[in-house]
Amino acid sequence: MSPDYRIREVRTTDRESIVQGYLALYQERENHPTLGIVLAKTPPTVEAENAWFDALLEAVRVGKKVVRVAEVGGRAVGLCEVTQKGSDTNADEAHVGELGLLVHERHRGQGIGEALIREVLARCAGRLEIVVLSVFGNNTRAKRLYAKVGFRSCGSLPRGIKRQGFYTDSDRMYLELVPPGAHSRAAAS
Ligand SMILES: CC(C)(COP(=O)(O)OP(=O)(O)OC[C@H]1O[C@@H](n2cnc3c(N)ncnc32)[C@H](O)[C@@H]1OP(=O)(O)O)[C@@H](O)C(=O)NCCC(=O)NCCS
Repeated sequence: MSPDYRIREVRTTDRESIVQGYLALYQERENHPTLGIVLAKTPPTVEAENAWFDALLEAVRVGKKVVRVAEVGGRAVGLCEVTQKGSDTNADEAHVGELGLLVHERHRGQGIGEALIREVLARCAGRLEIVVLSVFGNNTRAKRLYAKVGFRSCGSLPRGIKRQGFYTDSDRMYLELVPPGAHSRAAAS
């Protein structure tokens, strides 16, 4: 049976569903304080989120981000992005991208997260060499997914996350898109 979602590029018309889906995380955190995603203390304004969405579209346009959304019934219900590191003052990390992933609550556990991440990683190949991410130590669902698509642990900041009186580790994971041995030798510093 074919899935009832499709993975596609992000469009201007996704603004409302993406912004509302993100803002819904704040209510979800109220209900489930251990929700494994970094959030602000209080919800951002819709205007701030709209500005974030504009910046996302622009970053896609200039090739600084690879983004895919999952669409169900005409609405975007999940988003995966990889943002190229590096900047005007940092040329040395431009081969590395940072991954973020979110599936709206009602649509989880149906394979959408996995489909999103696989599609984005496929599109990063040839553009980036390494993809990294941060994940809450207690976010077993996300960590299992990342391991399933090939990410490996590369460190952890003990108690790096503190929310409403509980702590969890801030874990880092990475995936090499370039086959081992294809890198040039690292210079000693
Ligand atoms: C993490 C998240 C993106 C996963 O997306 P999803 O669409 O629910 O994941 P999928 O349905 O593709 O499942 C992929 C894998 O996740 C894991 N998974 C899914 N549901 C799970 C559950 N209830 N418990 C434990 N692991 C689960 C499994 O490893 C699954 O693989 P499987 O097919 O072998 O079971 C989603 O739960 C989410 O958006 N969570 C809130 C935000 C968040 O935590 N983002 C990540 C920040 S680092």
